[in-house]
Amino acid sequence: MADRRIPLIAGNWKMNGLNAALVEIDKLAGLLGAGERPDCAVAICPPATLLSALSARAGATGILTGGQDCHPKASGAHTGDISAVMLADAGATYVIVGHSERRTDHHEDDALVRSKALAALGAGLTPIICVGEARAEREAGRAIEVVTSQLLGSVPDEAGTNEVVIAYEPVWAIGTGLTPTIADVEAMHASIRSQLADRFGAAGKTIRILYGGSMKPANAKEILAVANVDGGLVGGASLLANDFYGIISAV
Ligand code: PGA
Repeated sequence: MADRRIPLIAGNWKMNGLNAALVEIDKLAGLLGAGERPDCAVAICPPATLLSALSARAGATGILTGGQDCHPKASGAHTGDISAVMLADAGATYVIVGHSERRTDHHEDDALVRSKALAALGAGLTPIICVGEARAEREAGRAIEVVTSQLLGSVPDEAGTNEVVIAYEPVWAIGTGLTPTIADVEAMHASIRSQLADRFGAAGKTIRILYGGSMKPANAKEILAVANVDGGLVGGASLLANDFYGIISAV
């Protein structure tokens, strides 16, 4: 079926992880190899300093890797930045763009996020484009309106002909232990799906929409069972192989 979407469980290590953390990939590969392999793609997005080593270590395990951000340009005088081409060269398959922590800490707006997503596509990477409302926006009943506008501004037209992933991450759920109700997750993912289908036609039905924000082994099964939830973007619970595997095996 054209719109069969293979779930993706992606770990976002954020600014966590020294070389010693690389053993987590061996542990994860061991867990994935031991039981029946869940029918999903698995990726880890470590800090850029670990990307090459983690990609090499993942090797033939089937675990993919990704960056956490990229610059819109391929190279040049941009001290401290990393381009999508460099991430691809370091072994990445994915790159997260527009994470709420980047939108807040680095004042990234939708236009910049869109240009980063385009750079990712240009480098042969799949961008994981993040959207999500703040607590005050949800309380004001504006969550769907805010996310609709972020999608319109952050997702490039090229998503109709290239692979992209969307991650819905309510800002107030990230790292807080709070999650939206299942009904709210369902309503938001349905709204995102209908927007993608309206804009990209059949291609919009093949785009994976991940949920992110305090996903844990204990709540993963319920969240992943929701219509149009095609996987998860996992922060804290991706740092230890056992927790991350608990989420993967809930697929
Ligand atoms: P969390 O982070 O799972 O720790 O809430 C998710 C994210 O920010 O991607």
